Amino acid sequence: MSNSLGVGIAGLGTVGGGFLKQLKSFKAKSNSESNIKIVQIAVKNKRKKRNFSIRSLPLISNAMELASNEEIDIIIELIGGSSGIAYKLVKKALSNKKHVITANKALIATHGNELATIAEKNKVCLNYEAAIAGGVPIVKAVRENLRFNKISKIYGILNGTCNYILTKMSRDKRDFKDVLKDAQNKGFAELDPTFDIQGIDAGHKISILSSLAFNIKVDFKGTYIEGISKIDASDFIFAKELGYSIKLLAIAAINGSQVEQRVHPCFVKQDSDISKVDNELNAIVVNDNVIGSNIFEGPGAGAGPTGASVMSDLMDILRGTYILPLGSSIDKKKKSKIKKITEQKFPYYLRILAKDQSGVMASITKVLSSYKVSIESIIQKPSHKKSYAEIILIIHRIKESTLLLALKKIKGLKTVSSSVKLIRIEDSL
Ligand code: HSE
Repeated sequence: MSNSLGVGIAGLGTVGGGFLKQLKSFKAKSNSESNIKIVQIAVKNKRKKRNFSIRSLPLISNAMELASNEEIDIIIELIGGSSGIAYKLVKKALSNKKHVITANKALIATHGNELATIAEKNKVCLNYEAAIAGGVPIVKAVRENLRFNKISKIYGILNGTCNYILTKMSRDKRDFKDVLKDAQNKGFAELDPTFDIQGIDAGHKISILSSLAFNIKVDFKGTYIEGISKIDASDFIFAKELGYSIKLLAIAAINGSQVEQRVHPCFVKQDSDISKVDNELNAIVVNDNVIGSNIFEGPGAGAGPTGASVMSDLMDILRGTYILPLGSSIDKKKKSKIKKITEQKFPYYLRILAKDQSGVMASITKVLSSYKVSIESIIQKPSHKKSYAEIILIIHRIKESTLLLALKKIKGLKTVSSSVKLIRIEDSL
């Protein structure tokens, strides 16, 4: 490392604080202070309470200044959000031939193709290790190594907030809202937790991984997304009794030219590896036809893990490592052909609230059988609702569109309440 590089930082929250701490310890250890110079740091609010001192830092308030400052070679974007200032800044910086490091998954998922095109044309880096699974080096692993092994499936737990909520609800029988508050206090939920809870955050991340793994363009809009807010305490009890856990999984798979990109709650076998990944941890499994299966597990958020990933992206630039932003040239990437969720086949968990009276079970199974839905197991439990029962079914693999037709008929039965729940079972883990 001989060249001195000027760095500009936009945003100084959890990730920025973690990065500055890492940088300090790196400089102390390596004695190479002259190589990295923090030229400017743009912050929205200089008075904001932070758990580190900002007194000696070169603060400015207009982030866009970074993109035209000639002393700056690398911009670290830590503002967040798919549009607005983060997008403008990154686009301008790349156009001005500055390298960019970002932790912004929403930005890469939404504008990744456009930004990668500019970076590629100007031969500058666009690195985003901190954007996916925090401290887990999954971008590097897929973008630089594993994709050459013909990846067939990449899946896992990509949202720590949801994993934490599901773990606590399952173990401590705690209420959704109460556990969410806990996750926010611990600092891994987004400021606006809607993106976590609704599966959007995991959707951003899997859309990017899918592009890297299958050499296709990033297609966030094509990703099927469903969050965790409809899962309640009883689902955990029934899942356990049937030998399953409930996890929010993000899954991308390829079969011929058809791609699956989906995020939704899944029943997973209690003895599967993914079922054992608890609390706020993230885990990603990569299946390829050379190595077989690789599992990456670690903290997906927080100052240390994300700061370390930003640091490693910076080290790559300092070393002169140039990797195309989306792994290969954007011109060589095909447009994805994403298979609709309704065209896919899964086994399912169904939970039907119905009148507790004779003939009800028979009328439900009659509808199912008329759509050739085959039942693997069935249990009935008393409901909290007076004179109603919960009917729990595990059904064999069937096309989702067919199941939805059957459920529509079932919901129309006089003895069935409109509350019919469906959770897909991921049995190929
Ligand atoms: N909010 C995210 C999560 C962390 O809960 O996993 C940052 O991507």
